[in-house]
Amino acid sequence: MTVSAFAPGRVNLIGDHTDYMGGAVLPMAVQMGTTVTGEYRADDPAPARVVLRSDRLDGIVEVDLPVLDPSVIRPRWGRYPAGVAAVLGSTVGFDGTVSSDLPIGGGLSSSASLEVATALVLGAPTDALELARLCRRAEVTATGVPCGIMDQLAVTAGVEGHALLIDCATEDVTPVRVPDAATFWVFDSGQARELAGSSYAERRTQAEAAAAIVGPLPHASMAAIASLVDPVLRARARHVRTECDRVHAFAAALSACDLVRAGELMLDSHRSLRDDYEVSTPLLDAMVEDLVRIRGVHGARLTGAGFGGCVVVLAEPDVTLAGTRVQPSAGARLVDPPNPQPPPNL
Ligand code: GLA
Repeated sequence: MTVSAFAPGRVNLIGDHTDYMGGAVLPMAVQMGTTVTGEYRADDPAPARVVLRSDRLDGIVEVDLPVLDPSVIRPRWGRYPAGVAAVLGSTVGFDGTVSSDLPIGGGLSSSASLEVATALVLGAPTDALELARLCRRAEVTATGVPCGIMDQLAVTAGVEGHALLIDCATEDVTPVRVPDAATFWVFDSGQARELAGSSYAERRTQAEAAAAIVGPLPHASMAAIASLVDPVLRARARHVRTECDRVHAFAAALSACDLVRAGELMLDSHRSLRDDYEVSTPLLDAMVEDLVRIRGVHGARLTGAGFGGCVVVLAEPDVTLAGTRVQPSAGARLVDPPNPQPPPNL
């Protein structure tokens, strides 16, 4: 029996480092993504294992089931499928292939895309929120990175032609139509970032320390934030608070097709990530500065965790840029068989 699933990547238009603080984000699933295809052999007497080969990543992943500790699997990319199998408690393995056209580690959620496609092949529930929660747990288990829900939920809940306004406190998803006049592009900095080795967890700890003093950051008053004594906590809190406001303002601007305003908000977001959250790099800053000088470009910002990865650009439709055009796309789905079957695995 063959099972095949496709999961898109995502680009975050605005709202970074807000998801794990219960704030707002506005990502969209893109047309590029990951396909995982697995062959199940019901009569195989060999020990249960998942075997995966990738068209882009080196090595063969061999994971014995049930998975005990996904964080030690090598090659490292195998930790994501292993994390999913661990969270699902999978005991029936498959021989499979992974193919992807996403930049790896480049800020377009190649890892969430791999997790979600693997989960569908392993017979996970197809409900977008349930699937996203499960894959977020898999990522934390596999990498130790205390990420939020944004990437996995954007990948599972994507709607063609729309970005997704997500309230990460309630996990409510509201599709926001992307007008034809708005085109988005991504530029890969080539600086691949390894989230576990970066300061992601440290930023989260600092934001939580600020929230312990002034309350949930998305709703804290600016006066309370200004009264924080520690300048680092003050800056981290200011970013989360103002970024959540920018997400809502951006969603409104997009709906009103006010692309000049939307572009300004993207640039403000980049500056806040650079100065208050300190997750940009000189290369990302230079790319944003160069891109916003181009005629017909409304705004640009780093997207995702930062420390490298991609820049997202909002431009007029008749402008052709040297990056990759990203289109708002549908979320993850089983390709073959197209409807959920009795899971071979559960
Ligand atoms: C990574 C995480 C997300 C989110 C972003 C920053 O992509 O996986 O949960 O925190 O960084 O917005």
